[in-house]
Amino acid sequence: MPGSRVGTTDMTRWWQSGTIYQVYPRSFQDSDGDGIGDLEGIRQRLGHLVALGVDAVWVSPFYPSPMADFGYDVADYCGVDPMFGTLEDFDGLIADAHGQGLKVVLDFVPNHTSERHPWFAESRAGRGSAKRDWYIWRDPASGGGPPNNWASNFGGSAWEYDEASGQYYYHAFLKEQPDLNWRNPQVRAAMNDVLRFWLERGVDGFRVDVIWHLMKDAGFRDNPDNPGFAEGQPDIARVLPVHSADQPEVFDVIAEMRATIEAYGDRVLIGEIYLPLERLVAYYGHDLSGVHLPFNFQLILSAWNARGLAELIETYERALPDGGWPNWVLGNHDQHRVASRIGAAQARVAAMLLLTLRGTPTIYYGDEIGMTDGEIAPEAVQDPWEKNEPGLGLGRDPERTPMHWTAADDAGFTTGTPWLPVGPAHEANVADQTGDPRSMLALHRRLLALRRAHEALSLGSFESVAATGDVLAYRRRRGGETFLIVLNLGHEPVAVDGLGQHRAILSTHLDREEARPAATIALRPDEGLILVP
Ligand code: NOJ
Ligand code: MG
Repeated sequence: MPGSRVGTTDMTRWWQSGTIYQVYPRSFQDSDGDGIGDLEGIRQRLGHLVALGVDAVWVSPFYPSPMADFGYDVADYCGVDPMFGTLEDFDGLIADAHGQGLKVVLDFVPNHTSERHPWFAESRAGRGSAKRDWYIWRDPASGGGPPNNWASNFGGSAWEYDEASGQYYYHAFLKEQPDLNWRNPQVRAAMNDVLRFWLERGVDGFRVDVIWHLMKDAGFRDNPDNPGFAEGQPDIARVLPVHSADQPEVFDVIAEMRATIEAYGDRVLIGEIYLPLERLVAYYGHDLSGVHLPFNFQLILSAWNARGLAELIETYERALPDGGWPNWVLGNHDQHRVASRIGAAQARVAAMLLLTLRGTPTIYYGDEIGMTDGEIAPEAVQDPWEKNEPGLGLGRDPERTPMHWTAADDAGFTTGTPWLPVGPAHEANVADQTGDPRSMLALHRRLLALRRAHEALSLGSFESVAATGDVLAYRRRRGGETFLIVLNLGHEPVAVDGLGQHRAILSTHLDREEARPAATIALRPDEGLILVP
């Protein structure tokens, strides 16, 4: 087992010690009764984030958008969609957040715009348009048809034919989301100006949407077929994205964004990247000139068992470049909720793992109360991916249902008709859990408070101790402090010996704080413990 690794410099930044909380704005809090969450709603609920003990809130897109992909199709990068409020509301939100000690991270969507963005309208106007080259236009293949075999992430060809000009444009996602041409210096300049617009308004950083997609093969070569493709997988899995993403030129683009950010001081750049580990860590960039945090989705994508987790933690720690800061994510608006993936009991163990691992944690709204995937009737489906490729379980609506604030039928989310059905709020909601010292919410508050109070947990070294049977154990150390974390990933009781005398200071069951150290650590089913010598 590789031992500890010194994880910090003396210049610790907020995004290293802090915890990020993701808000999907449509679903957090509606303030005007239209059934869709909004900026004013987020502002009203900042107190929840403060009480929870997180440090930063990342807000998914709220820019003007036709909502073909619920805001990831941006028609104006420097505005607020009326559905979500106004720029003044945004300024109010950021002022209030900062006043309460919370950082605000925006979602930057640079790979594609909406087809309704004025840039695209101009680009589409004709082959001679001044902005033609701002997007990716190609002639049909020599025998006719799309220029190559690249596939859309939401099904079908990634090329859309434009009758008027006789050319195709490229869209890695919906045809309503044409890809920008990041080889064009004017695009780069315009998009860095967008970053500055929000930096000037005080935002503390950006989560950059599909950052590994920004550059495509200059020669537009066909992608190879995927020999591992099986029926039941999404259409996009038919080919391997060898030429359509993750190109070496992307690192120049990212370094430019990073330089833009750095000019404003202590801000963070986070990259959304779904790539194998060895490619993921490349996004820290040459001499750490890349993103500060390439989102690490390993906990979402890997099997949930002690040995597998131990291995992935070790492999990740080993793969990090010198000075590269780790991070961990348990859920987001594109993935089924953790409580549905692994069950309610293990979701508590997962919370303890997330908040005691070395690296910045990201919590998805609702996971702190153990929300599960919502049930979406066929006629209630909203997600365009589910509509394009129905029945494969690809839909993302289940993890996007409204936040449960109260036990009421509307969950305290809206006075109107919610855009997605509200789940069983009486089973899990903020109001009830606030009064329950053993709730999932109480567990998150305790874990976050402990993490804040002890640098060993936020910034300390990580040392793997054991992965035997269902037990995963590791130590976190800094200065004179040591914590031992022992997690039972199984549903049977288990006893652990040989780790020395320890006493438990926090259990996932929230009913166990021991006065005296013991040599045997006895774990109940699905129990995680934080112990001290
Ligand atoms: C990743 C986002 O997280 C997802 O929700 C979106 O559909 C695609 N990028 C396209 O922007
Ligand atoms: Mg609203």
